[in-house]
Amino acid sequence: MSSTSADPISYTAQIVAAKRAIEQSLPVPLFNDPYAAALAGNEVEHLLSKWREVAERQGRSLEEVIVKRTRYIAIRTRFLDDLLLATLPQLSKPQVVILGSGLDTRAYRLPWPPATNLYEVDMPGVLDYKANALGSIKPNCRHHMIAGDLENFQTGWIARLLEAGLRQETPTIWILEGVVMYLPEPSAHSLLRTVAALSCFGSVLGMDAVKNGSILAAQSAKNADRGRVVRHWLFGCDEPQQLLKSYGWSAEVSQPQDVEIAHGRYPESMPVTAEVGGHQQERGVWLVKARKDQ
Ligand SMILES: C[S@@+](CC[C@H](N)C(=O)[O-])C[C@H]1O[C@@H](n2cnc3c(N)ncnc32)[C@H](O)[C@@H]1O
Repeated sequence: MSSTSADPISYTAQIVAAKRAIEQSLPVPLFNDPYAAALAGNEVEHLLSKWREVAERQGRSLEEVIVKRTRYIAIRTRFLDDLLLATLPQLSKPQVVILGSGLDTRAYRLPWPPATNLYEVDMPGVLDYKANALGSIKPNCRHHMIAGDLENFQTGWIARLLEAGLRQETPTIWILEGVVMYLPEPSAHSLLRTVAALSCFGSVLGMDAVKNGSILAAQSAKNADRGRVVRHWLFGCDEPQQLLKSYGWSAEVSQPQDVEIAHGRYPESMPVTAEVGGHQQERGVWLVKARKDQ
């Protein structure tokens, strides 16, 4: 396929890549992703042309609009980069699994310790698109692309992860970035249960999750500008610590507007509610770091 747009969920990966590419144009990007533009293709110009119109209509600079429209993806990317870079030196045999990796380029852009095994799992079309678009660029780690449907364990991706070398008796860093919200609730739970079962004591999980109020708000704003990404959200969670505790993880939970991780990208007061069906719903997202303690 020429892009990931054939499947609307995979298309979200391209929008994320476009936002990462546009982040690179800011004076101080929160991370360095030299490959995002090639992966995002036309989506970069598509977003920028809409945002130029927004800037003109609202009498703001394009930079202000970019910061506002990309800040969640930028903070999330940096949060998970920081989690990886802080955890990797603690692992004697580093292994990382990125589930729903989409057009994530960490395999190519982060300074991995030698002998790190990095496994990416996503739909075959997304992984093929990425491999073709990146061509001869070499990953900085032992890189394994595993095709599979995270909702369907029968597609054999767990067996393929293990065959490719994932060791259950060795701590793993799992990344679930922009993924669980796209799964139906039973599938989200099955996936978290499976990840827990494959993780020994000392494993680390980095993920984000969306509050139930945001799911409701997204579903009622299907035709809004940002709706192409959010309208597919299905799984919401108001108590991520409790959710992960039930699968054996101790979680530390932040929100992107928290000062220590916001890098000045959020105003001091953020509207956190939205009216949905006549009721105020609490909106927002969680950024989660968790350690397996059982
Ligand atoms: C919003 S994108 C995020 C991609 C990537 N984690 C990132 O942050 O750049 C969601 C990704 O999850 C993948 N995904 C969603 N549901 C999936 C499923 N059932 N099986 C495999 N991948 C899935 C999509 O193909 C897409 O690449």
